[in-house]
Amino acid sequence: MGQANNSSHHALFYRMVIRRPLQLGAVAPSSPELARAMAQWVPAGDGAFVLELGPGTGAVTEAILERGLPPPHLVAIEKSPEMASHLRQRFPDAIIITGDATHTRSLVASAAPQAASFALVICGIPLMNFPLQTTRQIASEIRQVLQPGGKLIQFSYHIWKKRNSTFADLQYCTSRVVWSNFPPARVTVYQK
Ligand SMILES: C[S@@+](CC[C@H](N)C(=O)[O-])C[C@H]1O[C@@H](n2cnc3c(N)ncnc32)[C@H](O)[C@@H]1O
Repeated sequence: MGQANNSSHHALFYRMVIRRPLQLGAVAPSSPELARAMAQWVPAGDGAFVLELGPGTGAVTEAILERGLPPPHLVAIEKSPEMASHLRQRFPDAIIITGDATHTRSLVASAAPQAASFALVICGIPLMNFPLQTTRQIASEIRQVLQPGGKLIQFSYHIWKKRNSTFADLQYCTSRVVWSNFPPARVTVYQK
């Protein structure tokens, strides 16, 4: 990817950080190392669907597609209309939905009914920034769209905390800190 493209992704991200700091919950897009640490869990080509929540300007989206997932098998839900429109230009064959992850099931049912359930959900939403009820609602939507045995990948800047109690009814699999990100972040994997 060219330097000019990178600059435009970053410029949009920083504009949104200034306008909606709580919704963004980050000072910069994920580094390529953090994006790859999450995307490494993309299942090998067996027709599976992957759901990305809070794709922002597409740092993790790009890493997911680099793993070989066919773009029409990637569904992404982004709250910011400006970012969603940027993502549609960047990834024209992926299914980019403008909307709120608290309504994940109904958004997927109307925009991507072919994705009956997901083998993998990658959540980039800053859950800790929201009221508990919102966080619980998003967690409940994730549980319901995950297929049995499906995985949830969550990242957090609270690197001392290995798992989030919001996902207590999912099985904790593994967790690691990615230091080459600003700030360092923890990637945790859960399984349904
Ligand atoms: C920390 S940024 C992560 C962006 C990108 N995944 C990355 O790693 O660079 C969080 C993203 O989640 C989006 N977001 C926040 N709340 C959301 C919600 N309720 N539904 C969908 N997207 C949301 C924000 O607009 C932002 O793009």
